[in-house]
Amino acid sequence: MSVTIVLGSQWGDEGKGKIVDLLSQSADMVARYQGGANAGHTIVFRGKQHILHLIPSGILNPEVVCLIGNGVVIDPEAFVKELNELHAHGIDTNGRLFISSRAQIILPYHKIIDKALESANTIKAIGTTGRGIGPAYVDKASRIGIRMIDLLNEKSLENKIKDNLEHYNCEFTKVLNIDTLNFDSMFEEFMANVNIMKPFIADTALMISKAMKAGKKIIVEGAQGALLDVDHGTYPFVTSSNPTAGGACTGLGIPPNSFDKIIAVVKAYCTRVGNGPFPTEQINSIGERLRATGSEFGATTGRPRRCGWLDLFVLKYSTMINGFTDIALTKLDVLNDFEEIKICSGYKTGGEIIESYPTSSEEFSAIEPEYITMKGWMKSLSGIRTLEALPNETREYLSKIEEISQVKISYISLSPDREDTIII
Ligand code: IMP
Repeated sequence: MSVTIVLGSQWGDEGKGKIVDLLSQSADMVARYQGGANAGHTIVFRGKQHILHLIPSGILNPEVVCLIGNGVVIDPEAFVKELNELHAHGIDTNGRLFISSRAQIILPYHKIIDKALESANTIKAIGTTGRGIGPAYVDKASRIGIRMIDLLNEKSLENKIKDNLEHYNCEFTKVLNIDTLNFDSMFEEFMANVNIMKPFIADTALMISKAMKAGKKIIVEGAQGALLDVDHGTYPFVTSSNPTAGGACTGLGIPPNSFDKIIAVVKAYCTRVGNGPFPTEQINSIGERLRATGSEFGATTGRPRRCGWLDLFVLKYSTMINGFTDIALTKLDVLNDFEEIKICSGYKTGGEIIESYPTSSEEFSAIEPEYITMKGWMKSLSGIRTLEALPNETREYLSKIEEISQVKISYISLSPDREDTIII
């Protein structure tokens, strides 16, 4: 049995897509466990860029079977669009892509509510991707959600959606003050995508279980990041699922003792899209340089990402929740031209270093990040393939990350390309 989980240790966009793609070169199966088309996994291979939102990054390797687990919320429109794009690039998905029969479905009314709630309450807005993620998970928890299995019985599907729409149309007019949705046109459009999706429905938990018993190599892929976790993240500025390692068990139906590697994808600095606390954010020329050099614009929404120094208190907290065994450090090359690089080693409140990661806006507003200043390496790292060949200053930066997080760095990514990686 070999199950490796790869997840974002910060606020998402750490570069998981590239790491999963790299690891899937020697994998049999790649499975995604939460989130939906709010994710944007960018992979560059031989100069060609692929952005995946819903389908696991392993799909680019023709030998890999890809699963979308029960914890994922599926937007049929986004799924079919992505499928068509993959086919247009010559990627065959036949017999190697499956969606859990238990996965929930995003309907047009979820996206409408998501956008309406965000624009109705700009002060408290989360800055969501507007993909209907939160409202779809609300329906799941309310036990009125539509699941992939429901697609197989058209009459009962029609009735369930009709009931839900009746409820939401009422909310649209009476609470949100927006136009209602017409059932017939919505259902007709929905069914066109449904018919394309039906062949992908499977018992993915059983598939993983069989693969584990057969000794197959499985990669489990998270979306978003640990600090966007609905339980452990910077609530309420979070997504509505559990990107942390525990979410992989519930989101795929894998027993907790299955994982032999838990890889933290750590960006060499920090970014965040959307609103919410970000203690090391640099709203200045440093932040602008990081954004420009790192091309920090959302892969899903195109929004500029907020940028700041690496926060090792976040990584320590994230390690505590997820039990990371390895770090995959990404975008180290973005720091090449900085004379000085700062690392946040912890937070102080009232002059005292705190041990517990802040929980509320009040706690966040009282903290002060503590920084270590390190000398930059001021050199290109292009073409370097071994740790030994890295400049001394770069190795000191890496040692500081390992020392404070107490997790070993096993992969260092030096560009978006699959080949530009140091494997330790
Ligand atoms: P939602 O997941 O669309 O509801 O958005 C909730 C929060 O998570 C917002 O701050 C989004 O910007 C953020 N978010 C959602 N998906 C991603 C992602 O893939 N990368 C980074 N941030 C994300």
